[in-house]
Amino acid sequence: MKVLFVCLGNICRSPSAEGVFSKILEAQGLQDRVEVDSCGIGDWHIGKAPDARAQQAAMRRGIDISGLRARQLSEEDFAVFDFILAMDDDNLRAIQAIQPEGYQGTTCLFMRFAGQPETPVPDPYFGGEQGFENVLDMIEDASNGLLQHVRLSL
Ligand code: 4NP
Repeated sequence: MKVLFVCLGNICRSPSAEGVFSKILEAQGLQDRVEVDSCGIGDWHIGKAPDARAQQAAMRRGIDISGLRARQLSEEDFAVFDFILAMDDDNLRAIQAIQPEGYQGTTCLFMRFAGQPETPVPDPYFGGEQGFENVLDMIEDASNGLLQHVRLSL
């Protein structure tokens, strides 16, 4: 089982989701059965570590995302990942714009797994610290729902 989190820059929301979901999988002993990655729609931050504010917010919850490096979504990702989960509607549209016909996996908003299929995880990049806390709260909710869902297919 392979899960890919997607946001715009791959330096705030999706690396945070990668960190949170990876930690949940480890706590459940599932880290060898579920592979997790993240990427961005844009190319501006390729090769960069997560935003310092995202790193600090994650670290306050005991999650170290400092080693992650940004990369861009590519068509090959559809051959690899079972779930390609978007943080917002723009991300989802960009994913579906390059989604090959016949892709058998799931592309949807991440917050569907928190029981909120229409809710985006808001971009915290141009806001303050509270935005990063809010992102983590939402990501934790959706990650717990995703865990239940993924368990059904293991
Ligand atoms: P992310 O946040 O999509 O959650 O990584 C952003 C990071 C950078 C930019 C936009 C959003 N940017 O415009 O550079």
